[in-house]
Amino acid sequence: MTAKRALRPRQGILDIAAYAPGKSALAGGGPVIKLSSNETPFGPSPRAIEAYLKEAQTLSRYPDGSARPLREAIAKLYGLDPARIVCGAGSDELLSLLATAYLGPGDEAIYSRHGFLVYRIVILARGATPVVAPEKNHTADVDEILARVTPATRMVFLANPNNPTGTYIAFDEVKRLRAGLPEDVVLVLDAAYAEYVRANDYEAGIELVATTHNTVMTRTFSKIYGLASLRIGWAYCPDAVADALNRIRGPFNVSGPAIAAGVASLEDHASMARAVEHNEVWLGRMAEALNALGLGVTPSAANFLLVHFPGGNGHSAADADAFLQSRRIILRRVAEYGFPEALRMTVGTEEENLAVLDALKAFLGASGAKRQ
Ligand SMILES: Cc1ncc(COP(=O)(O)O)c(C=O)c1O
Repeated sequence: MTAKRALRPRQGILDIAAYAPGKSALAGGGPVIKLSSNETPFGPSPRAIEAYLKEAQTLSRYPDGSARPLREAIAKLYGLDPARIVCGAGSDELLSLLATAYLGPGDEAIYSRHGFLVYRIVILARGATPVVAPEKNHTADVDEILARVTPATRMVFLANPNNPTGTYIAFDEVKRLRAGLPEDVVLVLDAAYAEYVRANDYEAGIELVATTHNTVMTRTFSKIYGLASLRIGWAYCPDAVADALNRIRGPFNVSGPAIAAGVASLEDHASMARAVEHNEVWLGRMAEALNALGLGVTPSAANFLLVHFPGGNGHSAADADAFLQSRRIILRRVAEYGFPEALRMTVGTEEENLAVLDALKAFLGASGAKRQ
């Protein structure tokens, strides 16, 4: 008998730590307050649900292969060229397709120290080398990114605002980054939380995609549109990048129900405005209230807050997490993002937010953490 030869994944794959999603359930089952994945507390637009259900009649048919109705609806809303929009199964798929198109062994790709973890995964999966740029004040630093560019650099991933910090960099800084990068480096502006940002100096990326041949913006329906489970993302790309992605994506990578629900949710401006308003109010209130409890909070432009615990016996983020879970509240541990003593909290409904504050008050009282 011949000895079996072990299968070996390509270089880099076994260096990947598989992405661990935010917890969604607790032992014993039953209802939980889940604020661990930056989902909207309001759910999808009723119009999206209606459109989704209607699609049940045609499940035996393949969907439009290029998600044309969705690309056209997005193009109409933002005044874009639909031919330069590529849709995917979540923006995660688009990040992965971008890496497939532009990275291989010997190439380098840069992201910032506390950047979204999927970047590292898609870079390593292509056998390329991840290069990590330090941040300042938990915020991407353009000079640090530019300082790490080498002749091998092919891509830069920037989440703006970033997950899990919630921090963003102003459009002037994004333009300075683009101007400082070599022409053959793809700049990926991951704007998953763009809809929530209220700052006047912010721009998600449309302008740079329109004016350069090497910048891509990715967006998602998973956050403010409340369609995380349907897996819908889109990228706005230069022509040549859209062409490359269309050659390698699955021929029907966005399902019919996803296309229909996506189109319908874009039409519901009222739900969207309500969600933005609620988020703005509660980001501010929660940051203030958490500060008043003596906890550090990173200033956030998104729909979540990074909450810092004092650490040490009884005061750690792990202790806080266990205490919150005992009250059936799930926040997100972020140790793998380089924050062992922080928890990330998605802005929830008023009731959910107040429940978190109540629980943390009790935790800090019980653990004896000092007010700052
Ligand atoms: C910064 C960032 N980019 C991309 C994604 C992926 O979103 P999706 O694949 O659901 O579109 C997330 C989700 O948490 C995110 O935080």
